[in-house]
Amino acid sequence: SKPTRIAVTPGDGIGPDVIQQSLRALDHLRQQYDLLLEWDVFEWPSTEWHRRNGDMMPADAMTRLAGYDAILLGALGDPGPSRDPHRYVLSDSVSLSPLLQMRKGFDQWVCERPAHQLKGARQYLADPRAADTDMLVIRENSEGEYVGQGGRLRQGQPGEIATQTEIFTRFATERIIRFGFERARKRAGERHETGKPRTFGNPDGEQLESQVCLITKRNALRHWGDMYTEVFAEVAKDYPDVATHHELVDAACMKFVQAPWAFDVVVASNLQGDILTDLAAVISGGLGVAPSCNLNPDDRSQPSMFEPTHGSAPDIAGQNRADPTAMLFTTARMLDWLGEERPALARAGHALYSAVAADLAEHGHEERTTDALGDAILARLGGQ
Ligand code: NAD
Ligand code: IPM
Ligand code: MN
Repeated sequence: SKPTRIAVTPGDGIGPDVIQQSLRALDHLRQQYDLLLEWDVFEWPSTEWHRRNGDMMPADAMTRLAGYDAILLGALGDPGPSRDPHRYVLSDSVSLSPLLQMRKGFDQWVCERPAHQLKGARQYLADPRAADTDMLVIRENSEGEYVGQGGRLRQGQPGEIATQTEIFTRFATERIIRFGFERARKRAGERHETGKPRTFGNPDGEQLESQVCLITKRNALRHWGDMYTEVFAEVAKDYPDVATHHELVDAACMKFVQAPWAFDVVVASNLQGDILTDLAAVISGGLGVAPSCNLNPDDRSQPSMFEPTHGSAPDIAGQNRADPTAMLFTTARMLDWLGEERPALARAGHALYSAVAADLAEHGHEERTTDALGDAILARLGGQ
């Protein structure tokens, strides 16, 4: 049969540092599990490519990427002029556009960002119950605050007005909410299998085994909030086994810190999901351990994109200091996703996840270089 093909785009800053460790692990897993897996590494999109060619990626980049089964992306983003005025700088709006282009162009309308307190990871919250946190934030990834509509009137004048329009469609709202309920149901099933069911109270007092919490700001942003609320209620009727909950986004921020263990699946808009998931990353032990993926669940012929939650971290780039854990977990999730059609890939993904989690449990608090952590993962996989 055909090999599974991955487009590897290391990108900027620590992107190449951490992706290097993923490629070492993939190389090993390929042999160990006899995987039909191939990858090509691209210099684009990147700020360096932009410097040489005047664009973040070639004109046919999207067409070329479309031929792959998945995209493994390090990080993009130039620090901008505030960090070092002597080096080449490119504004974020230019350097990050490929990221948004891929999400949009390949219709990766789901962004999944799990947050659970991993054994060994740094625990920022003092409450010991935080150790039980296990939530999945689902970020709407196709529209909302990220549609790029608006502009600047009277630019540079004292009377300037900047507008940034948010667009929410019933179509995209329904599919992301339904996806949330499906995930909740699946998680309840998995907890049953492992003998660790949880219960969540429905508003009517019923105790159910999973929950979807909808995030809005419906007290102030009425049009969007009302539509989200209405669609949520409609979709919920199809899932009587899943408890429903709602939080305003400001209160959700507070509760993520105060009682993150009370959440199961959380569905949020594009921008609010972005903000909530950096917060959720800290609950997991920091940006260094938080994976992420951009999925197109409807059309497997389009590549989904796998990238950690963190950015290019220019403050530590090229110093062998970046934590590759988030990237490695992200890579495991990619194998798992691709493995829904090819079980050997899923087994490899599981092995990678277990190796990284075990390494974290044992050495989580130690200061290690990027390479040393990669070495430890290889050794654990049986590669050295
Ligand atoms: P960032 O996530 O790059 O860094 C925030 C802080 O976390 C920094 O102190 C950094 O050193 C630390 N950090 C992040 N990842 C780490 C890791 N793996 N190991 C150890 N420490 C880590 O966010 P930022 O500084 O706000 O943004 C830097 C650039 O990255 C900007 O251009 C931003 O737009 C971009 N960005 C890109 C992506 C992406 O490509 N997916 C995501 C977020 C931000
Ligand atoms: C993320 C990032 C991106 C986002 C930026 C870099 C455009 O913060 O993936 O979380 O806002 O989606
Ligand atoms: Mn973000």
